[in-house]
Amino acid sequence: MSLAVETYNLTKIYPKRGVFNRSPSITALKNINLKIKAGTIYGLLGPNGAGKTTLIHILAAILLPTSGTAEIFGHDVIRDSNRVKSLINYCSGQGSLFWNLSVRENLRYYSKLYGLRDVESFEKINTLLEFFEIEERSNVKTAYLSSGLKQRVKLIKALLNDPKLLLLDEPTLGLDVDMAKKIRAYIKQLSKEKEMTIVLTSHNMYEVDELCDELALIDQGQIVSIGTPTTLKKSISQLESLELTFSKYNGDPSSLLEDLVIRSTFRDGFL
Ligand SMILES: Nc1ncnc2c1ncn2[C@@H]1O[C@H](COP(=O)(O)OP(=O)(O)OP(=O)(O)O)[C@@H](O)[C@H]1O
Ligand SMILES: [Mg+2]
Repeated sequence: MSLAVETYNLTKIYPKRGVFNRSPSITALKNINLKIKAGTIYGLLGPNGAGKTTLIHILAAILLPTSGTAEIFGHDVIRDSNRVKSLINYCSGQGSLFWNLSVRENLRYYSKLYGLRDVESFEKINTLLEFFEIEERSNVKTAYLSSGLKQRVKLIKALLNDPKLLLLDEPTLGLDVDMAKKIRAYIKQLSKEKEMTIVLTSHNMYEVDELCDELALIDQGQIVSIGTPTTLKKSISQLESLELTFSKYNGDPSSLLEDLVIRSTFRDGFL
């Protein structure tokens, strides 16, 4: 199977900052070596500050590594960044839209940027607006949208050019439960039907478990473990993962805690 992404000792050090360089340099990624198979859904899972977004930014050719490199479908992200950008798209909660333009104007602007013909983009935008349940707000300036609705527009933007590699930084952040579920199903469908390679970051083990064929656990800029969700869950469960199922729930979250007596003994003590 061909590779969509391959990284070679990818390292990113953010330089010292601040007055008199008082804030120290930060090693966000350290010798990351990854191979991501084409057509799969790959998860990057890790705590805040682990380096997930930094890695995604380097793969999207919008941030240069300090050393090492990465290839997207065999194209180097540093030397061949324009070719890389034509093969990918990227969606992040941090990314912004043009606040003063409507939803539709934003999407038409990006379609032009991606070189789509007007007829083609018109149809595509309508279909996606409908799917993401935002067609009624399509003439509203994005400044007036809630963060969840903005996230939907950013996802639509990322799908406009049918990327071969879709990079999603916390794709369901801020979305309500139903929309998050719908988008997870859609991500699966894209991978299966369009053979799109999808790399996504998440803090949500449930999400990566449901979606990903393979995932890497990242902590402090280093890969801790790589495997399928099943193999990784097994290794974590020996450490500190605990799944609780409640049979009675009266709608008040605090009642769960009142009824809960945990007597599990963990490696280094009690929970
Ligand atoms: N532009 C920057 N300048 C300096 N340091 C940065 C910059 N961007 C990120 N960092 C630092 O690099 C490290 C990795 O950050 P990154 O945003 O990649 O983590 P993350 O895994 O995406 O975290 P989160 O789950 O909170 O989104 C952190 O210590 C962060 O503070
Ligand atoms: Mg991040």
